[in-house]
Amino acid sequence: MIALGSDHAGFALKETLKAYLKEKGFETYDYGTYDENRCDYPVYSYRVAKAVAEGKADKGILVCGTGVGSSIAANKVNGIRCVCCSDPYSAELSRRHNDSNVLALGSRVIGEELAKMIVDMWLAAEFEGGRHAGRIAMFVDIENGCEPGEK
Ligand code: RB5
Repeated sequence: MIALGSDHAGFALKETLKAYLKEKGFETYDYGTYDENRCDYPVYSYRVAKAVAEGKADKGILVCGTGVGSSIAANKVNGIRCVCCSDPYSAELSRRHNDSNVLALGSRVIGEELAKMIVDMWLAAEFEGGRHAGRIAMFVDIENGCEPGEK
């Protein structure tokens, strides 16, 4: 299941991506917002990040005006590796090398078709493990207040 969330600025693109993912056979759950009334993106980032961190969702996709605020908020939740990106290459590599589990997009930065392409690349790519796995473990060290690599 893919958890979706946005603020007012990202609402329309979230709706587009929700329909696109449904068409492609993905199950989604929409954590809001549900209209274009002004709201605060950390609320929706937190809901989506929590769902992913707790294993209720496999991955999450957030949309705000830039993707920046949503990604900063999501990355505050332990276990979340959220990538804010505007290009398919970074999206793919964020999966292969960084095991990103939440994608943040900026509705005021990219168009619908590019957003779909980024989502496609991000969902299709797999984490490569190997030398990258130790670096992901270092993220956890940081979350635990340790120097990366400290035991
Ligand atoms: C809302 O105006 C805007 O600040 C928000 O959507 C997002 O871009 C924040 O990073």
